[in-house]
Amino acid sequence: MDVQTDFKSLFADALKKSVGEDLWTEEMERLIEQPKNSAYGDLSFPCFQLAKHFRKPPQEIAAKLANAIHDPAFEKVEALGPYVNAFFDRKSFGSRVVNRILREKGNYGSWSFGEGKTIVLDFSSPNIAKPFSMGHLRSTVIGSALANICEKAGYRTVKINHLGDWGTQFGKLISAYKRWGSEEIIKVNPIPELFRLYVRFHEEEKANPALTEEGRSWFKRLEDGDEEAVRLWKWFRDVSLEEFQRIYRLLEIGFDEYTGESFYNDKMDAIARQLEEKGLLVTSDQAEVVMLEEEGLPPCLIRKSDGATTYATRDLAAGVYRYQTYRFAKALYVVGHEQSVHFKQVFKVLEKMGNPWAKDMVHVPFGLYLKDGKKMSTRKGRVILLEEVLEEAIRQALKNIEAKNPRLENKEEAAKMVGVGAVVFHDLKSHRMNNIEFSLEDMLNFEGETGPYVQYAFARACSVLRKSGEETFAFSGLKDGESWEIVKRLHAFPEKVLQAFNGYDPSVIAKYVLDLAKAFNKYYGAVRILETDEERPSRLALVKAITIVLEEGLRLLGIKAPEQM
Ligand code: ARG
Repeated sequence: MDVQTDFKSLFADALKKSVGEDLWTEEMERLIEQPKNSAYGDLSFPCFQLAKHFRKPPQEIAAKLANAIHDPAFEKVEALGPYVNAFFDRKSFGSRVVNRILREKGNYGSWSFGEGKTIVLDFSSPNIAKPFSMGHLRSTVIGSALANICEKAGYRTVKINHLGDWGTQFGKLISAYKRWGSEEIIKVNPIPELFRLYVRFHEEEKANPALTEEGRSWFKRLEDGDEEAVRLWKWFRDVSLEEFQRIYRLLEIGFDEYTGESFYNDKMDAIARQLEEKGLLVTSDQAEVVMLEEEGLPPCLIRKSDGATTYATRDLAAGVYRYQTYRFAKALYVVGHEQSVHFKQVFKVLEKMGNPWAKDMVHVPFGLYLKDGKKMSTRKGRVILLEEVLEEAIRQALKNIEAKNPRLENKEEAAKMVGVGAVVFHDLKSHRMNNIEFSLEDMLNFEGETGPYVQYAFARACSVLRKSGEETFAFSGLKDGESWEIVKRLHAFPEKVLQAFNGYDPSVIAKYVLDLAKAFNKYYGAVRILETDEERPSRLALVKAITIVLEEGLRLLGIKAPEQM
């Protein structure tokens, strides 16, 4: 049994005995809570329900129950008003928690309920020939952290980059390139140049509608497999992908597939045919759509009036393909909340097509990155490029390290971990639906609620262990209040993993490591860890356990933990 549940069930068992086996229900067990204020014990049981049953005041019941419990796992059990409060025996509780972590190491906090099942995650998914923006950063880091969390729950994951590499805009891009493009410039500076061409096309198109026609016909040629169109498109795609991969390398994030929208090109007719067979396809304004009136949604556009397929058609084909290929238990789409109608439509249409697995598809939305309180927009130039941000963060981290620890070896290596970690942590520390204000200064602050703060606590703990010269660790109990605060937090880690998984919410882990780092810093300030006395081995074992859990928590977020910085 897991530590996080077994103390609860110890308390539940004790309560059950004193209440009477036949009266105790699982529902009552669920009433057991962890009081926020530790003065009210480690676990607390409210007696209101029992009071109703026995027709006696809850205070009386609480007192009776508390008196009847004599389990050595608890230092004391006392009634406080209508509550029964249990205080763990710190020595036995601490030993179980800390020694378990020392034994399980990085596996501590893992669950097995996902074993044998697969979760498919669609994340990052930038659009080729366009800059990789801070918005795509959100999808990338949230998606990658969620994949780690799913794996921690025992699932196999398939990480898919659904590149935006198909659609009428590529006809426009080809046409723009043919008119104004230069191979040399694109080779040197691919995405900015392709993007410039695209923006220019948009501008000139307004005054010259013939351009629109030209772009459309290039896309038609592309769809029909015209040699020149395909060659140019492939080139744009390759150079874009190379730039994206530079960013993924910096973040150390990988994908199992880069099956972008174009991958579904030959799979869309089948979708349209199926929709037709099921009688779901209707013609409206010469376009083919699936009506979703009853669901309160706008019609889902399957084919435009010129016969071109859409973003939605490709997502329908992708859904079917992914189910057929992976038989997923869940398919997560980590995409900004502005696309929530799109995903509602796609999931609904798949359901109407008779796919029971459509109910296992989940849109995991997130808020925006703001600059000075306003939405960042690629068009309006209020855009911050992720790569520049990462490089700037690394530069500043290096400056910090040079000031604090000039003799550190491998400064560049540590600066990379800290700079990248700062940007990632800043994104993950608040709930994904919150908008985030962009501030490099906030991200890199060693004192604030930041990645570097957590990494610094980790490095400090590592340095204590190095100084101790110990290599083997065992915990046999500590009495002080600061270490007890740490034990309780360490104990909560598996529960936090579960919570993060259930809510698709990496911020649970980010807040957790921050809190644990703070508790450690407090401990470090209050207690002389390296002092030679009989508690020294337990203190060092505690510090070792902290390093294990901090490192693992950061790993789940996609952040490295440098041992020195
Ligand atoms: N390329 C899209 C964008 O940047 C995101 C794609 C998300 N994934 C999907 N299956 N639709 O907005």
